[in-house]
Amino acid sequence: MSDLFRQPPRRPLVAPSILSADFGRMAAECKAVLDAGADLLHLDVMDGHFVPNLTMGPDMCAAVRRHLPEAFIDVHLMVTDPGLFIEPFVRAGANHLTFHVESLEGAAARELALRIRNDGATAGIAINPPTDVQRVLPLIEHFDLVLVMSVNPGYSGQSFIASVLEKVRAIAPRLRPDQRLEMDGGIGPREAGACLAAGCDVIAAASSIFRSGDYADAITALRRATPVRVP
Ligand code: DX5
Ligand code: ZN
Repeated sequence: MSDLFRQPPRRPLVAPSILSADFGRMAAECKAVLDAGADLLHLDVMDGHFVPNLTMGPDMCAAVRRHLPEAFIDVHLMVTDPGLFIEPFVRAGANHLTFHVESLEGAAARELALRIRNDGATAGIAINPPTDVQRVLPLIEHFDLVLVMSVNPGYSGQSFIASVLEKVRAIAPRLRPDQRLEMDGGIGPREAGACLAAGCDVIAAASSIFRSGDYADAITALRRATPVRVP
């Protein structure tokens, strides 16, 4: 198992979401962002049911793995039944799988985290902007990563919802050094500063990287964002 998410990072980890990459040149796009300094790849999986969009499945993950044997692959499952997709994605080379508290919680979520770990990946739990943070707090000790969504999932290119920083501030002090806090959605350098100040250490971003003219500049700008406190 790769331990990328289990070790406190020396600097914020930048995770390009390949949802905004050119799908016709996917392997080259993934290689380009890794060469430009990205720490890992974020794969957004949508089932057309949990969210109103369809994106990519295990075959895309396997193709990325085939072309980039060393890449760390963070799979974000925006699906109604995440239990169906653990083994297919692990077999396809995923290193980490995050599923949503809105699709599974309580004992069922704890059991799925165990299954993900037994299969050799690390496990994450995600929470949507409208969902009360209390729903995720009792679960966080069972996960390697908590993902706070800063847009309503479904599409890249939406605007950052700053009120979710409140959730990050509630979760961050409860995490152990071997747990990560990831923010996802609408993040450019300005928003990254607010995320880092609130306690995030993994930044997922699609548009601000893939729609920029220069991947290396965009990734460096996210990582070096000045932490700014947003009320
Ligand atoms: C949204 C996805 C995000 C998205 C981020 O449902 O989970 O990872 O691709 O895209 P940007 O950075 O453009 O908001
Ligand atoms: Zn995502």
